[in-house]
Order: sequence, then structure tokens, then C-alpha cells
Amino acid sequence: MKIAVLPGDGIGTEIVAEAVKVLNALDMKFEMETALVGGAAYDAHGHPLPESTLKLAMQSDAVLFGAVGDWKYDTLDRPLRPEQAILGLRKNLGLFANFRPAICYKELVNASSLKPELIAGLDILIIRELTGDIYFGQPRGRRVSPDGAFAGAEEAFDTMRYTRPEVERIARVAFEAARKRSKRVTSVDKANVLETFQFWKDIVAEVHKDYPDIALDHMYVDNAAMQLVKEPKRFDVVVTGNMFGDILSDEASMLTGSIGMLPSASLNASRQGLYEPSHGSAPDISGKGVANPLATILSAAMMLRFSLNQEEAAVRIENAVKKVLAQGLRTGDIYSEGATRVGTREMGEAVVKAL
Ligand code: IPM
Ligand code: MG
Repeated sequence: MKIAVLPGDGIGTEIVAEAVKVLNALDMKFEMETALVGGAAYDAHGHPLPESTLKLAMQSDAVLFGAVGDWKYDTLDRPLRPEQAILGLRKNLGLFANFRPAICYKELVNASSLKPELIAGLDILIIRELTGDIYFGQPRGRRVSPDGAFAGAEEAFDTMRYTRPEVERIARVAFEAARKRSKRVTSVDKANVLETFQFWKDIVAEVHKDYPDIALDHMYVDNAAMQLVKEPKRFDVVVTGNMFGDILSDEASMLTGSIGMLPSASLNASRQGLYEPSHGSAPDISGKGVANPLATILSAAMMLRFSLNQEEAAVRIENAVKKVLAQGLRTGDIYSEGATRVGTREMGEAVVKAL
């Protein structure tokens, strides 16, 4: 089992270090190799995703990823910005299926800005298509506008597009995932306006014929954004395109009030995967030892489950995390009165001990 460890920038290095400790405590045979990615790689090699890092990722069974980005890189040309590393890994490894669970831990029900009764027991799985849509669609760029009311003016454009196989495969991923849960899928689209998403909706409905045991409903993205805060528990599996999934998964993660708790997985057809916390590099708190490592530790659990076929070890980690929460340990982001405030390292070490 070969794991590429890519800590990245900001708090990435601190939280990944704790996840590595937890993996090492399992007493299993992993080969772990660390490499630079994001701004750190740009500083050292002049590129956010150096050839050597990409090669390591491609040769590994799984990538454990921290986070990338810092304000200081915001003025670089787009291809050199840290975010390009994650987009490049997704594209090159074909990581089309992004799993973003939003789970409300019972101990943290008061961390949410929503009323506790709305989110107690919340367990949503957002499945975001990750290698198509307007994120990667060509052509894109800047030019002189060729037509319309402002013909001749400077303009910028991106292209939203999906092919049939891309929609079919992500729909299957969603229906299969729903089979292991409460057998409900909501497909989110904008079929009332966009050709791409009428196509999406039609194909999801077609694929659904192979899954008669699963209940499917369709929802427009604007309504989905509203329902997520109005009645989040009406959702189980949500499947959507790359851009809507980007936005809705941030919204869903905040329902739980604790983005520092949420892991994610991005898988390709051969179950090779990239595992990362749902949050970013948080440059404002980086280096202070206060970041919450639990999302990364839980990402390592997802890695064991999905890419390394080690369900038992995954459950062990998840139970250890529940145990430290029950013990009342909290990093600043999930702290509430009466709890024991701990830093990144103490939290990681508590999980190791609970294992
Ligand atoms: C995410 C992030 C990325 C995205 C950025 C960093 C490119 O927001 O993983 O959700 O937009 O996909
Ligand atoms: Mg995002």
C-alpha cells in the first residue's frame, strides 16, 4: 500500500503530520512518501505541481493531501497558482467522483449556526462530479467580443459542457452509494435554464432505470441551496456537477458548524484516490498549532476504506475520533464552554491514544 503524502501550504503541513501519526499507530505496512505541492512547490521548484510530485501521486494507491494556497500567490499567473495543483491532480489521475459527507456529530450540535433540531443527526453525502463542467471546459479565455450588444468590447468566457459518459458514470456512483445508505438520491441541476443541465437531468433519469430500488428526485440548484438551510435532513445523497457541487458542498459543510471535521475523497475508476479535508489552508492560523486535524485524520480513514480496502482500520480511526470528542477535547474551531481546549498536536495525540 503506497501512499503519497502531500501536505501543501498553510495549516496543511500541521494537520497532515497528525494524520500520518495516526496511520503509523495502526501498525500496518504502508509505504509513505512525502512531496511538495501548491505554493510550497512553487517556491522550491517554480511550479505548484512539479513533475516529480505528479509522478509520485500517479504511482501511489492513494494521495493524502493537506491544503494549498496563500494570499501571497494570488498575483501569480493562473497556471502557477497553488489551486492549479489540485486541479492538475484531479485531471491527471481522472478523479471524477468527489465524496463530500456533511455529518453532524452529536457532541457538536451547538457548533452550527442553525437550530440544533434542524441539524441533529444530519448525514448528507454530496457527490460532486470533479473533472468536467465549466471547470475544465474548452474553449475559455479572453478576447474581443465577436457579437451581441457589446460586440467589439473586451470579454472573458468559460465553457460549461458534459459528455454522456461523464454524466452516466457519476450517476452510477451516486446510485451505488445510495444503496449503502437510505436509498435516496437528489440530482441537482439548472435544467430550467442550461442546456448542459437538461442533458444532465435526462441522463440521470435514464441511468436511474437500472436502480429501481433507489428513489430519485431532481432539484434546481437555487432551490437546493435554499432547502439545504431550510430542511437539510430531507437530503441523503446529492449528486451534481462540478461547479454546483463546489458551492453546495461548502454550504452543506457549514450546516454542521465544523468544517474542521469534514473529510473528502476523490476517486477514479480504479479506486485510486485523493483524500483531503474539506477546508482550506487557513493561512491566518497557520504555524500556530491550533488547526483542527480531525478532518484530515478522518480523510485518512476514508482512504483506508475506499482505496486501500481496510474497512476495519477505517472504523477504528472513526471510533477513536468519536472517543476524543466524547472526552470533551476541542480545537478552537469547535470549542464551546466547558470543553477542554487543545491544539493540533494534542488532538492528534489524543486520537492515537484512543486507537
Ligand atoms: C474545492 C476547492 C477547489 C475547487 C479550488 C481550490 C480549486 O474550492 O476543492 O472545493 O474549486 O474545486
Ligand atoms: Mg470549494
